[in-house]
Amino acid sequence: MNLILIGYMASGKSAVGVKLADSLKYDFVDLDNYIESQEKCTIKEIFKNKGELYFRKQEKFCLEKLISEKKNTIISLGGGTPCYYNTINELIDNKTLNTIYLKVSIPELVRRLKNEKNKRPLIAHIESDELLTEFIGKHLFERSQYYNKAEFIVNANLSVEEIIENIIIKLF
Ligand code: S3P
Repeated sequence: MNLILIGYMASGKSAVGVKLADSLKYDFVDLDNYIESQEKCTIKEIFKNKGELYFRKQEKFCLEKLISEKKNTIISLGGGTPCYYNTINELIDNKTLNTIYLKVSIPELVRRLKNEKNKRPLIAHIESDELLTEFIGKHLFERSQYYNKAEFIVNANLSVEEIIENIIIKLF
């Protein structure tokens, strides 16, 4: 059984994924890192040189490849992965995996993202905390309809250890 972590940027998908994999003796793959290794450049460069549409197609292709090849693996998706094509519905229909949404409040996302904007092409241009709050509020509202379809929804405003404990309680 694979476990798929979804959620907004900075919701802790990678940090939780690594430690959860360790606790469950699963493998771990971060989809963004996997795409970067396949494309031999950073996500930022892919967006800049080839555009978002190209990125979304590669993201979909890489996710399908990982899901078909991996077993007992935790896969952390990018914030947008479940929101394009028919991805979220395909994930919830797939009996070989479970989807887990790491749900974080808007103020907490702003707090985590304001010093990390540069790595993230979708928010790198946003100048003030106020504009960042406005952007995240609207963007999360649009994306929540996809995230909320996950089979498990976990409060992820907590520490990595607490989130993992909650995931384990829900899953087993
Ligand atoms: C994106 C989130 C990023 C990365 C890309 C696009 C998004 O991943 O896939 O910059 O659309 O939300 P993280 O959620 O790991 O930051």
